[in-house]
Amino acid sequence: MARITASVYTSHIPAIGAALDLGKTQEPYWQPVFKGYEFSKAWMQNNKPDVIFLVYNDHATAFDLDFIPTFAIGTAASYAPADEGWGPRPVPTVIGHPELSAHIAHSVIQQDFDLTIVNKMPVDHGLTVPLSLMCGQPPASQFEWPCPVIPFAVNVVQYPVPSGGRCFALGQAIRRAVESYDEDIKVHIWGTGGMSHQLQGPRAGLINKAFDTAFLDQLIADPAAAARIPHIDYVREAGSEGIELVMWLIARGAMADVAGGDPPRVAHRFYHVPASNTAVGHLILENT
Ligand code: DHB
Ligand code: FE
Repeated sequence: MARITASVYTSHIPAIGAALDLGKTQEPYWQPVFKGYEFSKAWMQNNKPDVIFLVYNDHATAFDLDFIPTFAIGTAASYAPADEGWGPRPVPTVIGHPELSAHIAHSVIQQDFDLTIVNKMPVDHGLTVPLSLMCGQPPASQFEWPCPVIPFAVNVVQYPVPSGGRCFALGQAIRRAVESYDEDIKVHIWGTGGMSHQLQGPRAGLINKAFDTAFLDQLIADPAAAARIPHIDYVREAGSEGIELVMWLIARGAMADVAGGDPPRVAHRFYHVPASNTAVGHLILENT
């Protein structure tokens, strides 16, 4: 049977993608950000999954205001890096896993979560920046991502957005779906976006280190309590784009302890301010 071996959480910040693509990672501003992912790249080499189930949000790239799915699962064989206005990032095409996607879609929909099935979807910085941070970035011509990826897009852009509680329950359903897949493979689940940031209005630039630190502590030790944070608290405390953090609860809900198993091991924890307009937060939790 398939198993979820670990969850990874990371901010996705488009300027990180630009820093990588333009060779700026050693500049004084960026050096401390990328240093926080040195451990993670080595950890990925030593804990290579067979598939990554990558929870992220699309930023009006694949979907726009014409069409807003709350939860969308990619079921394609491949996903092209999106052109977000400056040309697509020079990173490899993302290879999918249509069989596992279809199985998860079937299982999760039968567990009463109404997913949108997407057979064609360009993937933006929300997905490619976490992959670059965790897998490194040799020239795309000499490089492939280490394994297939299932993109899972959550609407955290246009209100109404799903609650943390709903996302946490969805993570539990995804775990059951993965564990009912009849092949012996290792799956990572990644929750991306966050941490505190606001890109718009009078509070643009907001960062709340106290909220972020408490969220990381609670996500690790008491995720059910983190799942009870109402969306208004994210907006008030973590800024309008801080709501991206509900996606971390999907990944956390899929961990073994939530289904009665042992607590995860914290393999890595990193926090840094600033990077572009946000705080960078990053965690790696392993099922033991
Ligand atoms: C920034 C952060 C985001 O999460 C995003 O999607 C776009 C921009 C920023 O820091 O500028
Ligand atoms: Fe974002």
